[in-house]
Amino acid sequence: MSESHAQPVGKLARRVARILAARGIDPTIPPTEAAEPRPALVAAEARIPARYRGAVAGHPTVTAWVRDIAAGGRPGPGGMPGIAKGRSLLILGTTGTGKTHEAYGAVRSLLIAGVRLRWKATTAADLYAELRPRPGHDTERELMDAARCPLLILDDLGAARSSEWTEEITMRLINRRYNEMLPTLITSNLGPADLRDQLGDRIASRLAEMTERVILDGPDRRRALASERRHTAA
Ligand SMILES: Nc1ncnc2c1ncn2[C@@H]1O[C@H](COP(=O)(O)OP(=O)(O)OP(=O)(O)O)[C@@H](O)[C@H]1O
Ligand SMILES: [Mg+2]
Repeated sequence: MSESHAQPVGKLARRVARILAARGIDPTIPPTEAAEPRPALVAAEARIPARYRGAVAGHPTVTAWVRDIAAGGRPGPGGMPGIAKGRSLLILGTTGTGKTHEAYGAVRSLLIAGVRLRWKATTAADLYAELRPRPGHDTERELMDAARCPLLILDDLGAARSSEWTEEITMRLINRRYNEMLPTLITSNLGPADLRDQLGDRIASRLAEMTERVILDGPDRRRALASERRHTAA
């Protein structure tokens, strides 16, 4: 503040009192209790798609991964653990076996455990669509956002039609996360051999080292749920 703006304290206090009075505020009345801040868990869970908002991971490899990742993170400012670097999961299975459910269930378990978590979820097809070069979009930055995010769900890898361009994008994404050892929850409907054919050997080689495989071999749960509904209605 320059000299010319300096005011004696008494004069300043009278000026503040006048402003408050003009706004109908009595400074002698204590402020009411501020509204409870929205808990971080509620805010984080709101980002989970409605269908998976109650998902609970049940596969032992997934629950073990959650434990390791939660336990390995260094404590942050509030003493809460951050997310550790380390292993990723490759969740494989045919249609409707619960792959996406397990992936979101793992994220929910981390949130419930109080892990400070910056995470992102996308299907491979949505990611390619977002990254198509178009005016007004910094697609390179969007790719790096996904590549550097501390935890990424990459759903339905290998489901979109592949091209040299999708292969390059996938390679850059996976390679960056492989190099930095950033946990990634990858789901795919393809078996390991088909995944290699679809994605190319260099991506498949990185996935082999960085991920632990989770095979879900149950029935299509959507059809099972539908037939259960029909039986109950009959
Ligand atoms: N462990 C589970 N307990 C209860 N419901 C589940 C479980 N796993 C999956 N479901 C439900 O089954 C349905 C199919 O699950 P999900 O969408 O995860 O399958 P998916 O393997 O990802 O299928 P797709 O290959 O088509 O993407 C969903 O309605 C989901 O909520
Ligand atoms: Mg799915």
